[in-house]
Amino acid sequence: MTSITITRPDDWHLHLRDGEMLKGVLPDTSAHFRRAIIMPNLVPPVVTTADAIRYRDRIVACIPDGDDFTPLMTLYLTETTDPDDVVTGFKDGIITAVKLYPAGATTNSESGVTDIAKVLPVLEKMAEAGIPLCMHGEVTNADVDIFDREAVFIETVLDPLRKRLPELKIIMEHVTTKDGVDYVLGEEHGLAATLTTHHLIINRNTILVGGIKPHYYCLPIAKREVHRQALVKAAVSGDRRIFLGTDSAPHIDPLKENACGCAGIYSSINTMSCLAHVFEDAGALDKLESFASLNGPAFYGLSKNTATMTLTKRENPVEFPKTIETGEGAVTVFDPQFPLHWEAE
Ligand code: NCD
Ligand code: ZN
Repeated sequence: MTSITITRPDDWHLHLRDGEMLKGVLPDTSAHFRRAIIMPNLVPPVVTTADAIRYRDRIVACIPDGDDFTPLMTLYLTETTDPDDVVTGFKDGIITAVKLYPAGATTNSESGVTDIAKVLPVLEKMAEAGIPLCMHGEVTNADVDIFDREAVFIETVLDPLRKRLPELKIIMEHVTTKDGVDYVLGEEHGLAATLTTHHLIINRNTILVGGIKPHYYCLPIAKREVHRQALVKAAVSGDRRIFLGTDSAPHIDPLKENACGCAGIYSSINTMSCLAHVFEDAGALDKLESFASLNGPAFYGLSKNTATMTLTKRENPVEFPKTIETGEGAVTVFDPQFPLHWEAE
């Protein structure tokens, strides 16, 4: 097969930032994706519906002419979030989901939640109103090893919350472990997982063997190869509970190539080519559409896109820039370390 046409994909987890960075990176997403769930971890974060309206307008102002793209806005859940603001923002169609960051889990998560009990009133209202919760699923206790943070989160936070509020719709984002996919695939209703492009391709050796490679450092951190294999298996299964959230998270190179480098991998520009490669490699190109275009909207209760995307396998590798230039500086593009032959149009 040298060409496939699929329903136009959506990205269910994306960092667009703001200002010059937003201007620099948005075209890479809007060229391929019809919609994206926009992460609210700006500085300061997007915490109210009024913040979300202003941020949405700044995004919309940067969409290149001719691209049909809708940002799906989220609110950053804090311990002082007003449940009524969340419900109104959702009912008015301003926000699509709420994002939970455990305090200190990742980039710009200082205002996150220290104890889930403190946000239960908001979560209860969300369950009632059918508002999805996107979760960064890692505990941040200093005594938990960074490679175990996801598994411990599932056991100590996610599972108890599911039992307490089974009707709350939850997306366990950027799952990186076999434990994570097994948990999600064990639940019939109200729970889904997103997988990133890079976690389908790299494992922890990619970051650490032969010298430290800051451009492969992201959170949650990539795990052992058995986990990567479990993620690929889940992605290519086409299961309705598993879908794409790239977690493309741009940082300028000086902040990555640093004694204390930022977490985040920038993959918007070549994600669809990488995914076609991974799915073809697994003999499952026919499942790419479920993963990238169908399962996400179905879980969120949104309609699938009417537009399509054609991916064509070229004889010669498709060239992507090593870095993109933004008004803030250069951003290194995710390098899958294999040639990409699939071109997305
Ligand atoms: C994200 C960022 O840079 O905002 N970084 C990352 O490594 N994924 C934050 C996040 O989603 O964890
Ligand atoms: Zn993210």
